[in-house]
Amino acid sequence: MPSSTDSFSSAGTKENRCPAAASGPFSIGTITLGNRLVLAPLAGYSNLAFRLICLQCGAGLAVSEMISSHGLAYGQKKTLNLLQTCADENVFVAQLFGAEPSIMAEAATVLNSHKVDIVDINMGCPVKKVTKRGAGAALMADITRASEIIDAVISATSKPVTVKLRVGVHNDQITVFDLAHQADKLGAAAITVHGRTWKQGFSGLADWDIIRRVKRSVSIPVIGNGDITSYHQAATALSEWGCDAVMIGRAAIGNPWVFSPSGTPPESAAITATALHHLDLISRFHGHLTHSPGLIKNQISRYFKGFAGASTWRRRINESSTINDLRTLLTNHAEHYKF
Ligand SMILES: Cc1cc2nc3c(=O)[nH]c(=O)nc-3n(C[C@H](O)[C@H](O)[C@H](O)COP(=O)(O)O)c2cc1C
Repeated sequence: MPSSTDSFSSAGTKENRCPAAASGPFSIGTITLGNRLVLAPLAGYSNLAFRLICLQCGAGLAVSEMISSHGLAYGQKKTLNLLQTCADENVFVAQLFGAEPSIMAEAATVLNSHKVDIVDINMGCPVKKVTKRGAGAALMADITRASEIIDAVISATSKPVTVKLRVGVHNDQITVFDLAHQADKLGAAAITVHGRTWKQGFSGLADWDIIRRVKRSVSIPVIGNGDITSYHQAATALSEWGCDAVMIGRAAIGNPWVFSPSGTPPESAAITATALHHLDLISRFHGHLTHSPGLIKNQISRYFKGFAGASTWRRRINESSTINDLRTLLTNHAEHYKF
């Protein structure tokens, strides 16, 4: 069982130690990154607009949301749209999910003709729609198939291939050591370990002691993931748990400053300006999302979560019926809703 001493829920006392640890360069295969903080793949959030925001706020790398290998192999337009990147995104990591080695290899071949720098394989998604087909976290229970997938993807591309793992299936079936060893042996450039089991989903605590032990057991870089909510916790994870980089997911939604040593700005104007910039990037790169304003409003309202008086502000955001209304609200009325 993960114990609280091996997790970050109780790591407040470790804050402010060694923040510089997060700033050193770090390499994945032939690609050198400016720092060791990585935005996690987040389905429904980590599109190009949000990745750019996080990179601008200090992330060294940002991973795409998961992309269906079937969708790519069959050339589905909606899936291909997820490969959108731009010059400001120096390194683009596309994350694939799927259960069939041959289809995963075909999808990796499709990526060869796109501007993709690193291919990541999803072995962590616990969502039923994904696991019932044997993909995502279900691969933590099938080391043979998972190894075939890693091998097939590496054989289909010359780009660095990384693998995102959980620690296992459940507490009595911790498979990450075997899978990490396989990834290392087959030529993966790095692995990410989310310190929860498949059965845990997002409940309980991430077990950072297992992440530390995995790091010691392989020769490739290990990116630790789970429950990091501040830059200083990330720095602690790097210095005390020994991983090579740290991935941050939920804590970055509405708070891209989690990647910066100075953290969330205290002034509402700075937060609103970033929300507006995010909205502009969504309009510029994801015009199709304007048909689903709910998705956009969800992303933008997250900037105002947890602040005194923010519920009124969030209600106003949710009442906007178009993106233009939302932009006008952010532009003209931010000053009235200081928090
Ligand atoms: C809304 C949401 C979407 C996610 N989408 C993905 C995904 O597409 N691929 C993936 O490997 N993990 C996905 N995850 C898992 C995260 O990448 C990360 O491993 C997990 O949230 C633990 O990190 P955190 O505690 O920093 O959030 C998702 C998590 C959330 C909350």
